[in-house]
Amino acid sequence: MKVAVLGAAGGIGQPLSLILKNELPAGSSLSLYDVAPFTPGVAKDLSHIPTDVCVNGFTGDDLPKALEGADIVVIPAGVARKPGMTRDDLFNVNAGIIANLVKNAAKVCPKACICIITNPVNSTVPIAAEVLKAEGVYDPHRLFGVSALDVLRAETFLGEELGLSKVTTQVPVIGGHSGTTILPLLSKVVGSEVISAERIKELTTRIQNAGTEVVEAKAGAGSATLSMAAAGARFALKVARGLMGEPGVTEYGYVQGGSQYGEFFAQRLEFGTEGWKRVIDFGPVSSFEQECLESLKGELAGNIKKGVEFGQKWVAENK
Ligand SMILES: NC(=O)c1ccc[n+]([C@@H]2O[C@H](COP(=O)([O-])OP(=O)(O)OC[C@H]3O[C@@H](n4cnc5c(N)ncnc54)[C@H](O)[C@@H]3O)[C@@H](O)[C@H]2O)c1
Repeated sequence: MKVAVLGAAGGIGQPLSLILKNELPAGSSLSLYDVAPFTPGVAKDLSHIPTDVCVNGFTGDDLPKALEGADIVVIPAGVARKPGMTRDDLFNVNAGIIANLVKNAAKVCPKACICIITNPVNSTVPIAAEVLKAEGVYDPHRLFGVSALDVLRAETFLGEELGLSKVTTQVPVIGGHSGTTILPLLSKVVGSEVISAERIKELTTRIQNAGTEVVEAKAGAGSATLSMAAAGARFALKVARGLMGEPGVTEYGYVQGGSQYGEFFAQRLEFGTEGWKRVIDFGPVSSFEQECLESLKGELAGNIKKGVEFGQKWVAENK
């Protein structure tokens, strides 16, 4: 596997690259790109870890070199939230960054699976889809928004609530990746029947606002980086296992298609040798979850529309 990380010198990019250096299968290569000029130094640093994954670092005009031959492109490039900001407040800066990076990927590695971490994910993924369409290489099965951090948080909070191992607690989280568009299906968690309806609502809200907990605790120094690196690595490594032909590998991800609740939707995906191959239906939900599902549709559709419109305009202006 060749994995390119774009935004590799940042708060998420560095620990994400560290995990990938340690966990990609032997013989893989890791290509780090960031506009920060010290990025080759980050690669040099990682290259001293004794695993059979080779690491190269690129900056400046060398983005095409970084993308050459990539099977997976993971993108955490962009700016992060400060206290008082919503993910949507990042749109103006991050939208253009994503469009440009994805255009380069479309030209250099058109078959790569692209995993977008950069917020607002609800909109950056539709932007990427528009850019890929304009380049004539869009395959919805190879484009993902990384919403897996919501799953990690839900697993942690539910494990704590039920006094169970957080490692084995499984919580589906569907919808989008911001505020009330994040919908944990707590009724699906084994043992959750003992939790009161009131407490289920509180836990749902905590999972939806967990990113803000970190933003406030970091007091201006950014948003989640280490837990996001863990989530991003878990996601990218599963995409890699699918590409290498391992059957039955699944994770939640935000993709186009497969849902009546949104044109793009976070749902459980089964990975294959060509990206995600099918969406696994989440089945019946509780009446509270059904209400949340109905009410998230409007906001998610608005976020998607904003991304599509930006993408189309950007494509027209950057021919
Ligand atoms: N999907 C999620 O669950 C999730 C969770 C947390 C953060 N995020 C998002 O991830 C993004 C990155 O967060 P961070 O904390 O790592 O930020 P950061 O500022 O620490 O790092 C971002 C990096 O991107 C680089 N960069 C900026 N423009 C670039 C470009 N055009 N090409 C290549 N690199 C570029 C910067 O130089 C920097 O090193 C933010 O948008 C944040 O909102 C997503």
